Amino acid sequence: MRLVLMGPPGSGKGTQAKMLAERAGLTHLSTGDILREAISSGSELGSKAQDAVEGGKLVSDDVLYDIVEARLRELGSDKCFILDGFPRNLRQAEFLEAILPSLGIGIDATVLLDVPRESLLRRLSGRRVCSRCGKEYHLEFSPPKVEGVCDVCGQELYQREDDKPDKIEKRLRMYDEATLPMVKFYRDRGLLVEIEAEGGMEDVLERILDSLGQGKQGRV
Ligand code: AP5
Repeated sequence: MRLVLMGPPGSGKGTQAKMLAERAGLTHLSTGDILREAISSGSELGSKAQDAVEGGKLVSDDVLYDIVEARLRELGSDKCFILDGFPRNLRQAEFLEAILPSLGIGIDATVLLDVPRESLLRRLSGRRVCSRCGKEYHLEFSPPKVEGVCDVCGQELYQREDDKPDKIEKRLRMYDEATLPMVKFYRDRGLLVEIEAEGGMEDVLERILDSLGQGKQGRV
């Protein structure tokens, strides 16, 4: 199974991708995680991406093309994966479609996570992340045992720069303008699986797995 996971910021792409990866033995490729790791390590990629990522804007397509193509080549044609955060606009979707044949693979389904806007705001503004191990928490839905401290490694939690209110608004606008047009692209190709992604994380996971197994368009 090779999947693209799409949805607005805070719709649960990262959360569901990790759970799906574990449940179905898929490799999770998150362009957001790759960029954030590059920023915290101070690499050349990080310095190219930092302003856009922290400002809630998109990183340039060329930077993403290099990253994604290299990661997919490394995986090879027998590995299954979930792409989380890529493609994020029509140009990126066309790029992916163009390179896949040369890698000897195809996408089986694009899963669109649908969450009401009020919930997105609540999820994003309450997210906290461990500054050492990267484990994610939510102040309301999955709080740490001790306020502000990671359960796993004891390090301090922080709020992502792009989870501050003005950046959240910018990211949601960017999603509407740049990413939503991809819905038609994948629907036209018979690959779109739409999931109502409100409710508990496990419930959403079951809905995704059911739709992929039973939906006409998913091939598991
Ligand atoms: P990225 O990291 O991909 O950010 P995003 O798309 O804005 O998504 P988020 O990580 O904010 O949310 P999510 O949908 O993964 O939700 P999550 O599971 O974390 O990208 C960051 C930046 O990198 C971009 O803005 C851009 O600058 C750059 N970038 C990345 N890819 C790019 C590309 N292709 N092109 C150009 N630039 C690119 O959940 C959010 C919160 O909700 C968590 O606290 C979680 O615990 C909670 N939650 C999740 N599910 C539930 C649930 N069912 N119930 C209650 N709470 C829940």
